[in-house]
Amino acid sequence: MEIKTDFLVIGSGIAGLSFAIKAAELGTVAIVTNKEKIESNTNYAQGGIAAVVDKTDKFEYHINDTLTCGAGLCREDVVKSVVTDAPERVEELAKWGMEFTKAKSGNSTNYDLGQEGGHSRRRILHAGDITGREIERALIEKAGSKKNIKIYENFFAIDLLLKSKIQGSEKGERDQCLGAYVFDVKNNEIHTFRARFTLLATGGAGKVYLITTNPDISTGDGIAMAYRAGAKIANMEFIQFHPTCLYHPEAKSFLISEAVRGEGGVLKLKNGSTFMEKYHEMKDLAPRDVVAKAIDTELKKSGDEYVLLDITHRDKDSLIKRFPNIYDKCLEFGIDMSKDSIPVVPAAHYICGGIVVNSFGETNIDRLFACGEVSCTGLHGANRLASNSLLEGLVFAHRSFVKISELFPEIEDKPVSVPSWDPKGATESDESIVVSQNWDEIRRFMWSYVGIVRSNKRLDRAKRRMDIINGEIDEYYRNFIVSGDLLELRNIATVAKLIIRCARLRKESRGLHYNIDYPERDDKNWLKDTVISKHS
Ligand code: FAD
Ligand code: SIN
Repeated sequence: MEIKTDFLVIGSGIAGLSFAIKAAELGTVAIVTNKEKIESNTNYAQGGIAAVVDKTDKFEYHINDTLTCGAGLCREDVVKSVVTDAPERVEELAKWGMEFTKAKSGNSTNYDLGQEGGHSRRRILHAGDITGREIERALIEKAGSKKNIKIYENFFAIDLLLKSKIQGSEKGERDQCLGAYVFDVKNNEIHTFRARFTLLATGGAGKVYLITTNPDISTGDGIAMAYRAGAKIANMEFIQFHPTCLYHPEAKSFLISEAVRGEGGVLKLKNGSTFMEKYHEMKDLAPRDVVAKAIDTELKKSGDEYVLLDITHRDKDSLIKRFPNIYDKCLEFGIDMSKDSIPVVPAAHYICGGIVVNSFGETNIDRLFACGEVSCTGLHGANRLASNSLLEGLVFAHRSFVKISELFPEIEDKPVSVPSWDPKGATESDESIVVSQNWDEIRRFMWSYVGIVRSNKRLDRAKRRMDIINGEIDEYYRNFIVSGDLLELRNIATVAKLIIRCARLRKESRGLHYNIDYPERDDKNWLKDTVISKHS
Protein backbone atom coordinates (compact mmCIF):
# COMPACT_ATOMS: atom_id res chain seq x y z
CA MET A 1 0.00 0.00 0.00
CA GLU A 2 1.19 3.56 -0.71
CA ILE A 3 0.34 6.19 1.94
CA LYS A 4 0.77 9.86 1.02
CA THR A 5 1.31 12.55 3.62
CA ASP A 6 2.87 16.00 3.85
CA PHE A 7 5.05 15.04 6.83
CA LEU A 8 6.33 11.64 7.78
CA VAL A 9 7.51 11.61 11.39
CA ILE A 10 9.41 8.49 12.45
CA GLY A 11 9.17 8.15 16.25
CA SER A 12 6.75 9.20 18.96
CA GLY A 13 9.05 10.51 21.71
CA ILE A 14 9.41 14.15 22.71
CA ALA A 15 11.07 15.17 19.42
CA GLY A 16 8.65 13.44 17.04
CA LEU A 17 5.45 14.35 18.88
CA SER A 18 6.30 17.98 19.56
CA PHE A 19 7.28 18.46 15.90
CA ALA A 20 4.10 16.72 14.71
CA ILE A 21 1.86 18.96 16.85
CA LYS A 22 3.32 22.01 15.11
CA ALA A 23 3.53 20.53 11.61
CA ALA A 24 -0.18 19.65 11.76
CA GLU A 25 -0.82 23.41 11.36
CA LEU A 26 0.71 23.19 7.87
CA GLY A 27 -0.49 19.86 6.51
CA THR A 28 -1.10 16.18 7.10
CA VAL A 29 1.21 14.27 9.44
CA ALA A 30 1.78 10.52 9.63
CA ILE A 31 3.65 9.40 12.75
CA VAL A 32 5.02 5.87 12.50
CA THR A 33 6.25 4.26 15.67
CA ASN A 34 7.54 0.73 16.05
CA LYS A 35 5.77 -0.20 19.30
CA GLU A 36 2.91 1.41 21.20
CA LYS A 37 2.94 5.20 20.82
CA ILE A 38 3.99 5.85 24.44
CA GLU A 39 7.02 3.54 24.21
CA SER A 40 10.16 5.65 23.90
CA ASN A 41 13.18 6.81 25.91
CA THR A 42 11.17 9.91 26.68
CA ASN A 43 8.63 7.81 28.54
CA TYR A 44 11.26 6.65 31.05
CA ALA A 45 12.93 10.00 31.71
CA GLN A 46 13.09 10.67 35.41
CA GLY A 47 15.24 13.71 36.32
CA GLY A 48 13.61 16.31 34.08
CA ILE A 49 14.30 19.21 31.71
CA ALA A 50 17.03 21.77 32.34
CA ALA A 51 16.02 25.43 31.90
CA VAL A 52 16.90 28.75 33.48
CA VAL A 53 13.66 29.84 35.12
CA ASP A 54 14.78 30.92 38.58
CA LYS A 55 15.85 34.52 39.23
CA THR A 56 19.06 33.44 40.95
CA ASP A 57 20.08 31.42 37.89
CA LYS A 58 21.50 32.87 34.66
CA PHE A 59 21.75 31.71 31.03
CA GLU A 60 25.48 32.22 31.39
CA TYR A 61 25.67 29.58 34.15
CA HIS A 62 23.68 26.97 32.20
CA ILE A 63 25.83 27.72 29.12
CA ASN A 64 29.05 27.31 31.12
CA ASP A 65 27.90 24.06 32.74
CA THR A 66 27.01 22.64 29.31
CA LEU A 67 30.33 23.72 27.79
CA THR A 68 32.36 22.37 30.72
CA CYS A 69 30.63 19.03 30.52
CA GLY A 70 31.06 18.89 26.71
CA ALA A 71 34.88 18.91 27.13
CA GLY A 72 35.70 21.34 24.34
CA LEU A 73 33.55 19.85 21.58
CA CYS A 74 30.23 21.69 22.03
CA ARG A 75 29.25 24.16 19.33
CA GLU A 76 29.12 27.31 21.41
CA ASP A 77 26.53 29.02 19.18
CA VAL A 78 24.23 26.01 19.51
CA VAL A 79 24.67 25.84 23.30
CA LYS A 80 23.88 29.56 23.69
CA SER A 81 20.81 29.42 21.51
CA VAL A 82 19.38 26.22 23.05
CA VAL A 83 19.86 27.52 26.59
CA THR A 84 18.21 30.85 25.78
CA ASP A 85 15.30 29.18 23.95
CA ALA A 86 14.70 26.76 26.85
CA PRO A 87 12.30 28.83 29.03
CA GLU A 88 9.97 29.52 26.08
CA ARG A 89 9.91 25.86 25.04
CA VAL A 90 9.15 24.53 28.54
CA GLU A 91 6.39 27.13 28.94
CA GLU A 92 4.91 25.92 25.66
CA LEU A 93 5.05 22.35 26.91
CA ALA A 94 3.25 23.43 30.09
CA LYS A 95 0.60 25.19 27.94
CA TRP A 96 0.09 21.95 26.03
CA GLY A 97 -0.84 20.26 29.31
CA MET A 98 2.44 19.03 30.82
CA GLU A 99 2.15 19.24 34.60
CA PHE A 100 5.52 20.03 36.14
CA THR A 101 5.85 19.68 39.92
CA LYS A 102 5.21 23.09 41.45
CA ALA A 103 7.38 24.75 44.11
CA LYS A 104 5.93 25.18 47.55
CA SER A 105 8.42 27.87 48.43
CA GLY A 106 12.11 28.58 48.40
CA ASN A 107 12.67 29.80 44.86
CA SER A 108 11.46 32.64 42.69
CA THR A 109 9.68 30.45 40.19
CA ASN A 110 6.48 28.54 40.06
CA TYR A 111 8.38 25.26 39.58
CA ASP A 112 10.14 22.91 41.96
CA LEU A 113 13.71 22.69 40.66
CA GLY A 114 15.86 19.58 40.96
CA GLN A 115 19.64 19.33 41.06
CA GLU A 116 21.77 16.98 38.92
CA GLY A 117 25.43 16.26 38.20
CA GLY A 118 27.43 18.97 36.44
CA HIS A 119 24.82 21.71 37.13
CA SER A 120 26.01 24.62 39.24
CA ARG A 121 22.41 25.53 40.15
CA ARG A 122 19.06 23.88 40.79
CA ARG A 123 17.41 24.17 37.37
CA ILE A 124 15.73 20.86 36.52
CA LEU A 125 11.97 21.10 35.96
CA HIS A 126 10.39 17.74 36.64
CA ALA A 127 7.17 15.88 37.32
CA GLY A 128 8.12 13.93 40.44
CA ASP A 129 10.39 11.17 39.15
CA ILE A 130 8.13 10.32 36.21
CA THR A 131 8.85 13.38 34.09
CA GLY A 132 8.96 11.40 30.83
CA ARG A 133 5.69 9.61 31.42
CA GLU A 134 3.99 12.95 32.04
CA ILE A 135 5.55 14.44 28.88
CA GLU A 136 4.31 11.52 26.78
CA ARG A 137 0.84 11.76 28.32
CA ALA A 138 0.58 15.45 27.55
CA LEU A 139 2.01 15.25 24.02
CA ILE A 140 -0.01 12.20 22.99
CA GLU A 141 -3.18 13.92 24.22
CA LYS A 142 -2.30 17.10 22.36
CA ALA A 143 -1.43 15.22 19.16
CA GLY A 144 -4.67 13.25 19.51
CA SER A 145 -6.61 16.52 19.43
CA LYS A 146 -5.23 17.39 15.95
CA LYS A 147 -7.27 16.02 13.10
CA ASN A 148 -4.31 16.26 10.72
CA ILE A 149 -2.25 13.75 12.71
CA LYS A 150 -2.51 10.01 12.25
CA ILE A 151 -0.39 7.72 14.43
CA TYR A 152 0.56 4.28 13.08
CA GLU A 153 1.55 2.03 16.00
CA ASN A 154 3.69 -1.08 15.46
CA PHE A 155 4.90 0.36 12.16
CA PHE A 156 8.64 -0.16 11.85
CA ALA A 157 10.51 2.15 9.45
CA ILE A 158 13.00 0.06 7.47
CA ASP A 159 14.76 2.41 5.06
CA LEU A 160 14.43 5.86 3.58
CA LEU A 161 13.15 6.38 0.04
CA LEU A 162 15.75 8.27 -1.93
CA LYS A 163 15.35 10.15 -5.18
CA SER A 164 18.73 8.83 -6.35
CA LYS A 165 17.53 5.24 -6.03
CA ILE A 166 14.28 5.91 -7.88
CA GLN A 167 15.20 8.41 -10.57
CA GLY A 168 18.99 8.27 -10.57
CA SER A 169 21.08 11.36 -9.86
CA GLU A 170 23.54 13.72 -11.51
CA LYS A 171 27.09 13.67 -10.19
CA GLY A 172 27.46 16.05 -7.22
CA GLU A 173 23.68 16.56 -6.90
CA ARG A 174 22.31 16.43 -3.33
CA ASP A 175 20.03 13.51 -2.72
CA GLN A 176 16.42 13.98 -1.69
CA CYS A 177 14.30 11.99 0.75
CA LEU A 178 10.83 11.06 -0.51
CA GLY A 179 9.60 9.11 2.52
CA ALA A 180 10.28 5.59 3.80
CA TYR A 181 9.49 1.90 3.50
CA VAL A 182 7.69 0.86 6.67
CA PHE A 183 6.99 -2.64 8.00
CA ASP A 184 3.54 -3.17 9.51
CA VAL A 185 4.62 -5.60 12.21
CA LYS A 186 1.17 -6.95 13.13
CA ASN A 187 0.04 -7.59 9.55
CA ASN A 188 3.42 -8.55 8.15
CA GLU A 189 3.20 -6.10 5.26
CA ILE A 190 5.56 -3.45 3.95
CA HIS A 191 4.05 -0.07 3.02
CA THR A 192 5.47 2.85 1.10
CA PHE A 193 5.06 6.17 2.92
CA ARG A 194 5.48 9.09 0.49
CA ALA A 195 6.09 12.46 2.14
CA ARG A 196 7.15 15.98 1.26
CA PHE A 197 9.31 16.06 4.39
CA THR A 198 10.59 13.27 6.59
CA LEU A 199 11.69 13.73 10.21
CA LEU A 200 13.79 11.07 11.90
CA ALA A 201 13.08 11.11 15.65
CA THR A 202 13.90 7.52 16.52
CA GLY A 203 15.89 8.18 19.71
CA GLY A 204 19.03 6.44 20.93
CA ALA A 205 20.92 3.19 20.68
CA GLY A 206 21.46 1.85 24.22
CA LYS A 207 20.54 -1.68 23.13
CA VAL A 208 23.88 -1.92 21.36
CA TYR A 209 25.25 -2.59 24.88
CA LEU A 210 24.58 -5.49 27.22
CA ILE A 211 23.68 -3.28 30.18
CA THR A 212 21.58 -0.24 29.44
CA THR A 213 19.00 2.03 30.98
CA ASN A 214 17.22 2.24 27.62
CA PRO A 215 13.99 0.51 26.60
CA ASP A 216 13.92 -2.08 23.78
CA ILE A 217 13.15 0.47 21.06
CA SER A 218 16.66 1.93 21.37
CA THR A 219 18.33 0.07 18.53
CA GLY A 220 19.67 3.13 16.74
CA ASP A 221 17.33 2.63 13.77
CA GLY A 222 17.32 6.25 12.61
CA ILE A 223 21.10 6.52 12.67
CA ALA A 224 21.44 3.25 10.75
CA MET A 225 18.81 4.26 8.17
CA ALA A 226 20.38 7.68 7.67
CA TYR A 227 23.86 6.16 7.32
CA ARG A 228 22.63 3.70 4.68
CA ALA A 229 21.05 6.64 2.85
CA GLY A 230 24.35 8.55 2.76
CA ALA A 231 23.81 11.03 5.61
CA LYS A 232 26.76 12.33 7.59
CA ILE A 233 27.16 10.80 11.04
CA ALA A 234 29.39 12.18 13.81
CA ASN A 235 30.85 11.57 17.28
CA MET A 236 29.52 8.05 17.74
CA GLU A 237 32.33 7.24 20.18
CA PHE A 238 30.72 9.41 22.85
CA ILE A 239 28.45 6.94 24.62
CA GLN A 240 27.23 8.17 27.96
CA PHE A 241 27.15 5.59 30.74
CA HIS A 242 24.77 6.56 33.51
CA PRO A 243 26.45 5.81 36.84
CA THR A 244 23.42 4.44 38.66
CA CYS A 245 21.32 1.72 37.09
CA LEU A 246 19.63 -0.58 39.63
CA TYR A 247 21.63 -3.80 40.07
CA HIS A 248 19.34 -6.74 40.62
CA PRO A 249 19.21 -10.03 38.68
CA GLU A 250 15.50 -9.57 37.97
CA ALA A 251 15.44 -5.82 37.28
CA LYS A 252 15.51 -4.96 33.60
CA SER A 253 16.95 -1.54 32.80
CA PHE A 254 15.79 0.49 35.76
CA LEU A 255 17.44 3.86 36.29
CA ILE A 256 18.04 5.39 39.71
CA SER A 257 17.88 9.07 38.80
CA GLU A 258 20.82 11.38 39.32
CA ALA A 259 18.29 13.52 41.17
CA VAL A 260 18.68 11.04 44.06
CA ARG A 261 22.27 12.22 44.40
CA GLY A 262 20.94 15.76 43.85
CA GLU A 263 18.88 15.29 47.01
CA GLY A 264 21.88 14.06 49.05
CA GLY A 265 22.39 10.42 47.95
CA VAL A 266 26.00 9.28 48.43
CA LEU A 267 27.89 6.54 46.57
CA LYS A 268 29.65 3.99 48.75
CA LEU A 269 31.57 0.78 48.37
CA LYS A 270 30.09 -2.42 49.81
CA ASN A 271 32.27 -1.89 52.91
CA GLY A 272 30.51 1.43 53.54
CA SER A 273 33.36 3.78 52.56
CA THR A 274 32.75 6.74 50.25
CA PHE A 275 35.02 7.23 47.22
CA MET A 276 33.88 10.09 44.98
CA GLU A 277 35.98 12.64 46.93
CA LYS A 278 39.06 10.94 45.38
CA TYR A 279 37.87 11.66 41.85
CA HIS A 280 36.29 15.13 41.68
CA GLU A 281 35.67 18.22 43.79
CA MET A 282 31.93 17.97 43.06
CA LYS A 283 32.06 14.43 44.54
CA ASP A 284 28.79 12.56 43.89
CA LEU A 285 27.52 15.38 41.70
CA ALA A 286 30.50 15.42 39.35
CA PRO A 287 29.70 15.10 35.61
CA ARG A 288 28.54 11.62 34.63
CA ASP A 289 31.65 10.53 32.77
CA VAL A 290 33.70 11.12 35.91
CA VAL A 291 31.26 9.28 38.21
CA ALA A 292 30.79 6.30 35.85
CA LYS A 293 34.56 5.93 35.35
CA ALA A 294 35.15 6.21 39.12
CA ILE A 295 32.62 3.42 39.79
CA ASP A 296 34.16 1.28 37.02
CA THR A 297 37.63 1.77 38.55
CA GLU A 298 36.43 0.94 42.07
CA LEU A 299 34.58 -2.18 40.88
CA LYS A 300 37.66 -3.40 39.01
CA LYS A 301 39.77 -2.79 42.12
CA SER A 302 37.42 -4.50 44.59
CA GLY A 303 36.07 -7.23 42.31
CA ASP A 304 32.57 -6.35 43.55
CA GLU A 305 29.60 -6.49 41.21
CA TYR A 306 28.03 -3.20 42.31
CA VAL A 307 28.43 -0.13 44.48
CA LEU A 308 25.81 1.30 46.82
CA LEU A 309 23.77 4.48 46.66
CA ASP A 310 22.83 5.58 50.15
CA ILE A 311 20.06 8.08 50.87
CA THR A 312 18.92 6.50 54.14
CA HIS A 313 19.55 9.75 56.03
CA ARG A 314 16.39 11.16 54.38
CA ASP A 315 13.07 10.32 55.97
CA LYS A 316 10.72 7.87 54.30
CA ASP A 317 7.88 10.35 53.66
CA SER A 318 10.05 12.85 51.84
CA LEU A 319 11.59 10.08 49.70
CA ILE A 320 8.17 8.71 48.78
CA LYS A 321 7.02 12.21 47.88
CA ARG A 322 10.02 13.12 45.74
CA PHE A 323 10.75 9.69 44.21
CA PRO A 324 7.50 7.70 44.26
CA ASN A 325 8.37 5.61 41.22
CA ILE A 326 11.93 4.78 42.31
CA TYR A 327 10.76 4.03 45.85
CA ASP A 328 8.09 1.59 44.61
CA LYS A 329 10.37 -0.07 42.09
CA CYS A 330 13.12 -0.65 44.67
CA LEU A 331 10.56 -2.02 47.11
CA GLU A 332 9.43 -4.54 44.44
CA PHE A 333 12.96 -5.94 44.69
CA GLY A 334 13.01 -5.92 48.50
CA ILE A 335 14.96 -2.65 48.85
CA ASP A 336 13.45 0.03 51.07
CA MET A 337 15.52 3.06 50.09
CA SER A 338 14.75 4.83 53.36
CA LYS A 339 16.49 1.96 55.22
CA ASP A 340 18.67 0.15 52.67
CA SER A 341 21.36 1.38 50.31
CA ILE A 342 20.53 0.72 46.65
CA PRO A 343 22.91 -1.54 44.67
CA VAL A 344 23.84 0.24 41.41
CA VAL A 345 26.09 -0.18 38.35
CA PRO A 346 26.87 2.05 35.37
CA ALA A 347 24.86 1.35 32.19
CA ALA A 348 24.82 2.64 28.61
CA HIS A 349 22.38 5.52 28.69
CA TYR A 350 22.70 8.07 25.90
CA ILE A 351 24.48 8.54 22.58
CA CYS A 352 25.92 12.02 22.08
CA GLY A 353 26.72 11.39 18.43
CA GLY A 354 24.29 10.78 15.61
CA ILE A 355 23.07 12.26 12.35
CA VAL A 356 24.80 15.56 11.63
CA VAL A 357 22.27 18.40 11.45
CA ASN A 358 22.49 22.18 11.25
CA SER A 359 20.79 24.60 13.64
CA PHE A 360 17.43 23.80 12.01
CA GLY A 361 17.64 20.02 12.17
CA GLU A 362 18.48 19.73 8.44
CA THR A 363 20.64 16.80 7.35
CA ASN A 364 22.81 16.70 4.21
CA ILE A 365 19.91 15.01 2.38
CA ASP A 366 17.21 17.39 1.13
CA ARG A 367 13.82 17.16 2.86
CA LEU A 368 15.27 14.89 5.56
CA PHE A 369 15.36 16.35 9.07
CA ALA A 370 16.52 14.71 12.30
CA CYS A 371 15.71 15.73 15.88
CA GLY A 372 16.32 14.52 19.40
CA GLU A 373 18.74 11.81 20.46
CA VAL A 374 19.14 10.47 16.90
CA SER A 375 20.85 13.71 15.85
CA CYS A 376 24.18 15.34 16.51
CA THR A 377 23.52 19.06 16.87
CA GLY A 378 26.69 20.21 18.62
CA LEU A 379 24.87 20.80 21.94
CA HIS A 380 26.48 17.96 23.88
CA GLY A 381 30.01 17.81 22.49
CA ALA A 382 31.95 14.97 24.12
CA ASN A 383 29.58 14.56 27.07
CA ARG A 384 25.95 15.56 27.62
CA LEU A 385 24.99 17.57 30.65
CA ALA A 386 22.17 15.89 32.60
CA SER A 387 18.64 16.83 31.54
CA ASN A 388 19.78 18.66 28.40
CA SER A 389 18.44 16.01 26.00
CA LEU A 390 14.70 16.40 26.49
CA LEU A 391 15.43 20.09 26.08
CA GLU A 392 17.35 19.50 22.85
CA GLY A 393 14.46 17.44 21.46
CA LEU A 394 11.98 20.23 22.18
CA VAL A 395 14.13 23.06 20.85
CA PHE A 396 15.15 21.30 17.64
CA ALA A 397 11.63 20.06 16.91
CA HIS A 398 10.56 23.70 17.04
CA ARG A 399 13.42 24.85 14.83
CA SER A 400 12.81 22.11 12.27
CA PHE A 401 9.23 23.29 12.14
CA VAL A 402 10.36 26.91 11.61
CA LYS A 403 12.61 25.89 8.70
CA ILE A 404 10.02 23.59 7.16
CA SER A 405 7.37 26.35 7.37
CA GLU A 406 9.65 28.44 5.14
CA LEU A 407 10.33 25.62 2.68
CA PHE A 408 6.86 24.08 2.61
CA PRO A 409 5.15 26.48 0.15
CA GLU A 410 8.02 26.01 -2.33
CA ILE A 411 7.96 22.22 -2.33
CA GLU A 412 5.56 20.83 -4.88
CA ASP A 413 4.27 17.35 -4.41
CA LYS A 414 5.28 16.12 -7.87
CA PRO A 415 3.90 12.70 -8.62
CA VAL A 416 6.85 10.30 -8.56
CA SER A 417 6.36 6.67 -9.23
CA VAL A 418 7.91 4.86 -6.29
CA PRO A 419 8.42 1.12 -6.60
CA SER A 420 6.82 -1.04 -3.93
CA TRP A 421 9.11 -2.99 -1.60
CA ASP A 422 10.79 -5.79 -3.53
CA PRO A 423 11.57 -8.88 -1.42
CA LYS A 424 13.78 -10.20 -4.29
CA GLY A 425 13.00 -13.86 -3.79
CA ALA A 426 13.48 -13.81 0.01
CA THR A 427 12.04 -16.81 1.82
CA GLU A 428 10.88 -17.59 5.35
CA SER A 429 13.90 -18.14 7.64
CA ASP A 430 14.48 -21.48 9.32
CA GLU A 431 17.62 -20.18 11.07
CA SER A 432 16.44 -17.50 13.49
CA ILE A 433 19.20 -18.69 15.84
CA VAL A 434 21.51 -16.51 13.71
CA VAL A 435 19.56 -13.45 14.84
CA SER A 436 19.56 -14.27 18.57
CA GLN A 437 23.19 -15.43 18.59
CA ASN A 438 24.48 -12.30 16.83
CA TRP A 439 22.29 -10.02 18.89
CA ASP A 440 23.76 -11.40 22.10
CA GLU A 441 27.32 -11.45 20.82
CA ILE A 442 27.33 -7.83 19.64
CA ARG A 443 25.95 -6.53 22.93
CA ARG A 444 28.46 -8.51 24.97
CA PHE A 445 31.61 -7.50 23.09
CA MET A 446 30.47 -3.89 22.80
CA TRP A 447 30.16 -3.89 26.60
CA SER A 448 33.56 -5.50 27.15
CA TYR A 449 35.62 -3.91 24.37
CA VAL A 450 33.92 -0.60 23.56
CA GLY A 451 32.63 0.30 27.04
CA ILE A 452 33.68 2.87 29.62
CA VAL A 453 37.41 2.10 29.27
CA ARG A 454 38.78 1.29 25.81
CA SER A 455 42.15 0.35 24.34
CA ASN A 456 43.48 0.00 20.80
CA LYS A 457 43.59 -3.79 21.15
CA ARG A 458 40.02 -4.01 22.41
CA LEU A 459 38.76 -1.75 19.64
CA ASP A 460 40.62 -3.80 17.00
CA ARG A 461 39.12 -7.01 18.39
CA ALA A 462 35.66 -5.48 18.31
CA LYS A 463 36.17 -4.37 14.70
CA ARG A 464 37.27 -7.83 13.56
CA ARG A 465 34.22 -9.45 15.13
CA MET A 466 31.90 -6.77 13.81
CA ASP A 467 33.18 -7.22 10.23
CA ILE A 468 32.34 -10.93 10.36
CA ILE A 469 28.93 -10.39 11.94
CA ASN A 470 27.99 -7.62 9.52
CA GLY A 471 28.84 -9.94 6.60
CA GLU A 472 26.58 -12.65 8.06
CA ILE A 473 23.75 -10.23 8.71
CA ASP A 474 23.90 -8.77 5.17
CA GLU A 475 23.66 -12.25 3.70
CA TYR A 476 20.80 -13.19 6.03
CA TYR A 477 18.98 -9.93 5.25
CA ARG A 478 19.20 -10.57 1.48
CA ASN A 479 17.90 -14.13 1.73
CA PHE A 480 15.12 -14.03 4.28
CA ILE A 481 11.80 -12.23 4.66
CA VAL A 482 12.09 -9.30 7.08
CA SER A 483 10.97 -9.50 10.70
CA GLY A 484 11.14 -6.94 13.52
CA ASP A 485 14.00 -8.88 15.15
CA LEU A 486 16.03 -9.03 11.97
CA LEU A 487 15.54 -5.31 11.29
CA GLU A 488 16.66 -4.44 14.82
CA LEU A 489 19.69 -6.71 14.60
CA ARG A 490 20.70 -5.15 11.28
CA ASN A 491 20.47 -1.71 12.87
CA ILE A 492 22.38 -2.46 16.09
CA ALA A 493 25.08 -4.10 13.96
CA THR A 494 25.35 -0.96 11.80
CA VAL A 495 25.42 1.34 14.82
CA ALA A 496 28.01 -0.84 16.60
CA LYS A 497 30.18 -0.60 13.47
CA LEU A 498 29.86 3.21 13.48
CA ILE A 499 30.72 3.48 17.21
CA ILE A 500 33.81 1.32 16.70
CA ARG A 501 34.80 3.30 13.61
CA CYS A 502 34.60 6.67 15.40
CA ALA A 503 36.30 5.27 18.54
CA ARG A 504 39.23 4.01 16.44
CA LEU A 505 39.54 7.37 14.69
CA ARG A 506 39.83 9.44 17.89
CA LYS A 507 43.40 9.08 19.11
CA GLU A 508 43.01 10.80 22.47
CA SER A 509 40.78 10.61 25.56
CA ARG A 510 38.06 13.23 25.97
CA GLY A 511 34.71 13.34 27.72
CA LEU A 512 32.98 10.00 27.30
CA HIS A 513 35.74 8.45 25.19
CA TYR A 514 38.57 7.03 27.30
CA ASN A 515 41.32 5.02 25.58
CA ILE A 516 44.17 3.80 27.83
CA ASP A 517 46.58 3.95 24.87
CA TYR A 518 45.92 7.70 24.52
CA PRO A 519 45.00 8.67 28.10
CA GLU A 520 45.36 12.44 27.61
CA ARG A 521 43.16 15.02 25.95
CA ASP A 522 44.87 16.34 22.80
CA ASP A 523 43.46 19.76 21.90
CA LYS A 524 46.14 20.34 19.29
CA ASN A 525 44.95 17.53 17.03
CA TRP A 526 41.53 16.49 18.25
CA LEU A 527 39.46 19.55 18.97
CA LYS A 528 37.12 18.33 16.24
CA ASP A 529 34.26 15.95 15.52
CA THR A 530 34.71 12.49 14.02
CA VAL A 531 32.50 12.82 10.94
CA ILE A 532 31.89 9.74 8.80
CA SER A 533 29.52 8.57 6.07
CA LYS A 534 29.14 5.48 3.92
CA HIS A 535 31.01 7.40 1.21
CA SER A 536 34.06 8.13 3.39
P1 FAD B 1 12.67 8.69 22.04
O1 FAD B 1 11.94 9.30 23.15
O2 FAD B 1 13.54 7.55 22.34
O3 FAD B 1 11.61 8.23 20.94
C1 FAD B 1 12.00 7.46 19.84
C2 FAD B 1 10.77 6.95 19.14
O4 FAD B 1 11.14 6.38 17.89
C3 FAD B 1 10.04 5.86 19.90
O5 FAD B 1 8.67 6.13 19.81
C4 FAD B 1 10.37 4.58 19.13
O6 FAD B 1 9.40 3.60 19.23
C5 FAD B 1 10.48 5.13 17.72
N1 FAD B 1 11.28 4.32 16.80
C6 FAD B 1 12.55 3.89 16.95
N2 FAD B 1 12.93 3.18 15.86
C7 FAD B 1 11.87 3.18 15.01
C8 FAD B 1 11.63 2.61 13.73
N3 FAD B 1 12.54 1.90 13.07
N4 FAD B 1 10.42 2.80 13.15
C9 FAD B 1 9.45 3.51 13.80
N5 FAD B 1 9.63 4.06 15.01
C10 FAD B 1 10.82 3.90 15.60
N6 FAD B 1 16.99 13.09 29.35
C11 FAD B 1 16.75 14.26 29.99
O7 FAD B 1 16.95 15.34 29.42
N7 FAD B 1 16.25 14.25 31.25
C12 FAD B 1 16.01 13.09 31.94
O8 FAD B 1 15.55 13.12 33.06
C13 FAD B 1 16.28 11.86 31.29
N8 FAD B 1 16.09 10.69 31.93
C14 FAD B 1 16.26 9.52 31.24
C15 FAD B 1 15.96 8.31 31.86
C16 FAD B 1 16.06 7.13 31.16
C17 FAD B 1 15.74 5.82 31.85
C18 FAD B 1 16.48 7.14 29.82
C19 FAD B 1 16.58 5.87 29.04
C20 FAD B 1 16.80 8.34 29.19
C21 FAD B 1 16.70 9.53 29.89
N9 FAD B 1 17.00 10.74 29.29
C22 FAD B 1 16.76 11.91 29.96
C23 FAD B 1 17.34 10.81 27.87
C24 FAD B 1 16.07 11.22 27.10
O9 FAD B 1 14.97 10.56 27.67
C25 FAD B 1 16.17 10.87 25.63
O10 FAD B 1 17.36 11.34 25.09
C26 FAD B 1 15.00 11.55 24.90
O11 FAD B 1 13.79 11.17 25.48
C27 FAD B 1 15.02 11.16 23.44
O12 FAD B 1 13.84 11.63 22.86
P2 FAD B 1 13.58 11.35 21.33
O13 FAD B 1 12.26 11.94 21.00
O14 FAD B 1 14.75 11.75 20.55
O15 FAD B 1 13.52 9.75 21.23
C1 SIN C 1 18.44 10.98 35.49
O1 SIN C 1 17.33 11.22 35.96
O2 SIN C 1 19.43 10.68 36.15
C2 SIN C 1 18.61 11.03 34.01
C3 SIN C 1 18.81 12.42 33.58
C4 SIN C 1 19.36 12.46 32.18
O3 SIN C 1 19.71 11.45 31.60
O4 SIN C 1 19.48 13.58 31.68
